[in-house]
Amino acid sequence: MLSDQFKRKIDYLRVSVTDRCDLRCTYCMAEDVTFLPRQEVLSIEEIIKLIDVFNELGVKKFRLTGGEPLVRKNIITVIEHLNDLKKQKKIYEHTLTTNGTNLEKYASILKENGIERINVSLDSLNSEKYKEITKWGNLEKVLKGIKSANNEGIKVKINTVLTQDFNDEEIFEIIEWCKKNNCDISLIEVMPIGSIGEKRFDQYLSMKNFEEKLVKKLNLIPSNFKTNGPSRYFTNKVNDQKIGIISAISHNFCDTCNRVRLTCTGKLYMCLGQNDFVDLKFALRNQSKTDIINKIEYAMSIKPKAHNFEINKNNFEGYVDRYMNETGG
Ligand code: 5AD
Ligand code: SF4
Repeated sequence: MLSDQFKRKIDYLRVSVTDRCDLRCTYCMAEDVTFLPRQEVLSIEEIIKLIDVFNELGVKKFRLTGGEPLVRKNIITVIEHLNDLKKQKKIYEHTLTTNGTNLEKYASILKENGIERINVSLDSLNSEKYKEITKWGNLEKVLKGIKSANNEGIKVKINTVLTQDFNDEEIFEIIEWCKKNNCDISLIEVMPIGSIGEKRFDQYLSMKNFEEKLVKKLNLIPSNFKTNGPSRYFTNKVNDQKIGIISAISHNFCDTCNRVRLTCTGKLYMCLGQNDFVDLKFALRNQSKTDIINKIEYAMSIKPKAHNFEINKNNFEGYVDRYMNETGG
C-alpha cells in the first residue's frame, strides 16, 4: 500500500490519457493552446503498464481524464483492461471524466466495460452560452450523450464550474435540471491552473459567499456523505437531491487527499495545486519495473501537504504553471 510522508494512504490514480480536447473551455486552456507532440505521449500499452504497476502498489481506483479521454484513439483498450482488473477484484472502481461530446456513441461501450458512473462537464444549459464558454461546443450533442448514459444505467454526475456573471444565476436552473434528469451535481470553484491572464480574476466567484446564498435559496443541509475527495455535500431538504461543492481556494480539502495524477507523458503530479512532479517515462521506456516502483515511492515521500491556490486582484496568474488539460480534473 502506498502512503505519503503525512501517512495519507494513496489508493486513487487519475490518468490523463491525452492533453487534447475537442472543446476549448475558457477557464481551462489558453486561447492559443498548443498540444503536445505525439511522440511525447505514452502509448496505450505504456499507459496500461503503468496502471498495472500502480495497481500492484495498492491503487484500487482509477479515473481516466484528459483533455477529453474519449478523443484518445483506442481508449477502450485501457477501459477493457481496467474492467479485467475489476473482474479479478484487483480494483474496485474505474471511471471517467468527460465533456460528453462523444458520449452518445460511447455510452453502451462504457457500460459493457464496467463503467458505472461518470462525471460530465456542463456549465450552461443555454446553447449560445454553452458555445461561448466552450468556444464551439454543441449542447444538444452533450445532452443526448447524458441521456444515452442514463439509459444505459450509468450514473451521471454533472461538474459545473461556477464563473462570475456567466452561470451564477443560471446555476439554480442547472441544479433543477439535474434533479429532473436523475443526475448528481458538483459545483466547482475556478482554480488558478495555468495562465489565462486577468480573465482568471474576472471569472473567479468565491464559493464562500455563494454557498450561503445557495444554502438559503435551496433549503440545503450539510450531508454526512463523504469521500476522500474535495467535495463537501449538501442535501436539499425538500427533494433529497445531493449537491457537492468543490471550493479549493475558500476551503482547503487536502487533509484527506488519497490521490495522485499521471499525465499522458508519464509525469506523476502529487498535487493538483503544486508544480512538482516525478517523471516516470524514462524509467518506463529504459529501465526496469523496480526503477518505476522506486520513482513512485519517491514521489510519495515528497507529496506536498496542501495546495497553494490563491486568486486575488494582484495575483490572478496563480502558482500552477500548467493547464488543466494536462493533469485532468
Ligand atoms: N478550475 C476549475 N475547474 C476546472 N476544470 C477545468 N479547468 C478548471 C479550472 N481552472 C474542470 C472542468 C471539468 C473538470 C475536469 O475540471 O470543467 O469538469
Ligand atoms: Fe476540454 Fe474539459 Fe478543458 Fe473544457 S474543461 S477544454 S472540456 S479538457
